[in-house]
Amino acid sequence: MTVTRMPSTKDLIDSAQKARAKAYAPYSKFKVGAALLGKSGRIYTGCNVENASYGLACCAERIAVFRALSEGEREFRAIAIVSSSNEPTAPCGACRQVLNEFAPGINIIMPGRKKTIKTTLKKLLPLAFGPKSLK
Ligand code: THU
Repeated sequence: MTVTRMPSTKDLIDSAQKARAKAYAPYSKFKVGAALLGKSGRIYTGCNVENASYGLACCAERIAVFRALSEGEREFRAIAIVSSSNEPTAPCGACRQVLNEFAPGINIIMPGRKKTIKTTLKKLLPLAFGPKSLK
């Protein structure tokens, strides 16, 4: 019998690091990887993808979210973000807003060389504008 378990924080960080290796970041040279944990227990990864038309770059986090959504996952528990930096990398404002649409309660894990920051989207995006704001 195979026993399946929910992925751990370490599993998520490992997945984000593997995704980072696939980043396409020839302009900024700043490679980012993200691993998003769905309610189902599946992990969806993303890396940043840049473009010669600079403004079209897409962050690793949003690619992970859009991959997950396109596979039918709608609820998320946690996301780990890793980058080329020694410091923890926080999601940009656009990614915070996209995460808020589907997972306002998501946990955010940001490993750095010396310390890992574990926080929540609620803390990073206070007074968020979301689906309920339109009611
Ligand atoms: N980037 C991400 O992928 N995620 C973040 O959290 C911060 C920024 C990407 C966008 C761009 O390709 C590069 O990092 C530099 O901003």
